Amino acid sequence: MVLSILCVSLIWFSGGNKILHADTLPNDLGKAVTEIENLDEMRSHLASFLESTPDKPTPDTFKQVCKPVGMKMKQLGEENGWQTKQIAKKYRNPNHAPQNLQEVMALAKFEQDENLKGFWQPEIVDGVKGTKYYRRINVESSCLACHGLKNERPSFVQQKYPQDLAYNFHVGDLRGMYSVFIPEDAIEALKDN
Ligand code: HEC
Repeated sequence: MVLSILCVSLIWFSGGNKILHADTLPNDLGKAVTEIENLDEMRSHLASFLESTPDKPTPDTFKQVCKPVGMKMKQLGEENGWQTKQIAKKYRNPNHAPQNLQEVMALAKFEQDENLKGFWQPEIVDGVKGTKYYRRINVESSCLACHGLKNERPSFVQQKYPQDLAYNFHVGDLRGMYSVFIPEDAIEALKDN
């Protein structure tokens, strides 16, 4: 039953992509895609740098991977008038739990199709129309230092995130997704410039 509702909704979802009008495909969407690619690359670099350093990482260096990604996400939102988020079913920071049906279904879509890297669709957020862009986040080997086996997580993670769910991942698993909501007024503002 639940599955059939999910399937019907997924069909509806993919239909939604098609009815996105050409004039609501903002320059901003391209910008959002690029910014998220840069951000994802930044995390990969930070994580692999940490993995390759011969010195044992200190609690400080350990903090320098996903925290800056979160800060940069927030900054992107503020600078562009977007709502930006990282969302994960197995989350570490409870602020990153899925908050609504769209988010749950977007995660399910990525889970079902491992080749799906990203997609966008029209959405209404808090009564405001706009475009939502979703982009998958996969687990790489460098992530396992902090998202691998439960008992091998750095002690700062175990202490700071007592309700942590973001462990026991394997390379290639879906870790979560980025989402960027571009409201229509941000699109209009861009056109005026
Ligand atoms: C040095 C430890 C460390 C490494 C390495 C690391 N992470 Fe994280 N990760 C964290 C911490 C700590 C948080 C929680 C940050 C916060 O409070 O927002 C987190 C949060 C996240 C989140 C946000 C969702 C959530 O669960 O809160 C994602 C997505 C994520 N990590 C993906 C990755 C990926 C992908 C890699 C590898 C490329 C990686 N992480 C490597 C420590 C790490």
